[in-house]
Amino acid sequence: MASSTSCKENSLVLGIETSCDETAVAVVEAGLKIRSNVVSSQIPIHQRFGGVVPEVASRQHVKLIVRVLDQALRDADVTLDDISAVAVAYGPGLVGSLLVGISAAKAIALARGVPLIGVNHVLGHVYANLLAHEHLTLPAVCLTVSGGHTDILYVAPDHTYTVIGSTRDDAAGEAFDKVARVLGLGYPGGPRIDEVSRNGNPKSIEFPRPMLDEDNLDFSFSGLKTAVINHVHRLRQLDQELPISDIAASFQQAVVDVLVGKITRAAEAKQVSTVILSGGVASNTQLRRDLKSECERRGLALYYPPPSLCTDNAAMIACAGYFQYVAGRFSSLSLDAVPGLTLRESAMKEERPGKP
Ligand code: KG4
Ligand code: ZN
Repeated sequence: MASSTSCKENSLVLGIETSCDETAVAVVEAGLKIRSNVVSSQIPIHQRFGGVVPEVASRQHVKLIVRVLDQALRDADVTLDDISAVAVAYGPGLVGSLLVGISAAKAIALARGVPLIGVNHVLGHVYANLLAHEHLTLPAVCLTVSGGHTDILYVAPDHTYTVIGSTRDDAAGEAFDKVARVLGLGYPGGPRIDEVSRNGNPKSIEFPRPMLDEDNLDFSFSGLKTAVINHVHRLRQLDQELPISDIAASFQQAVVDVLVGKITRAAEAKQVSTVILSGGVASNTQLRRDLKSECERRGLALYYPPPSLCTDNAAMIACAGYFQYVAGRFSSLSLDAVPGLTLRESAMKEERPGKP
């Protein structure tokens, strides 16, 4: 992507990400070159509870953070002396989890006298695309869709952005996870629904496409989730066998139809020819397939990261942090976790140049 980054070209940004159930540290050179990207997933630990248990997650982060940091420095073949700045996700996320990463980042920034940069986790997902596609050009519209957020952004050539659409209730990933739980598919639900849907008929059950025909760029997934749950309960009451693959495929198709419809409408409204997809749900096979063919039909360029950069990682935080670093937007050492941080809030907030 074209950017004004001539200075600080060789800077190494250390990224730290602990907002949910992944303990992740990365080293990124000059904003775009991944020198290391270590992710320690807690999925096996939370699986037996059927979802992330916040207290367990933060304790795991405490246990793992130093080990993951050491590994990331080793993989990048650098020491803390080589680091130019520390970027850390400070929200949205689980407060106890976020605080582990923030504390580690502050300790490093203070001890080494380097700037601390607080990054909005969701914005990190958007920047994952820059790491994956060096020729990506702005402006673009971006659909960022994860377990905790579903937003459409307009991203200008100077990297400033405006939120032009959001979910009014559940995030799409949240709906995937809840439906998977009702179908007995386990946690995390998105990848399991993706998998079993391959053997199902997406047209077998006509679930609603909430807000698809409304003249706005917002979403609502809670009614769709309830429709699926009611359908499952009805079949159970009738003692009928659950056609799990068909239900999963029909639900997935309903979500995908809405996501594809809204993001292509956003591209049309903003008259841009680039569409970006980001966040955990961006790994969904059907979403990628349908959005690709719709973008091809409309002559739009579509970018999405590889699956390893779609789900939570610290390289995306380091990349987003680098662009804040270049713009001189630092955080102070009083940076706090903001569990409910929104993109609108971050877009409006002008972080002051801080002292390292
Ligand atoms: O970005 P992410 O790793 O964490 C958050 O910031 O929330 O996204 C996790 C979400 C979960 O809801 C997970 O079920 C969903 O992304 N997800 C998927 C797929 N892979 C992950 N949803 C649908 N299809 C997938 N293949
Ligand atoms: Zn995420």
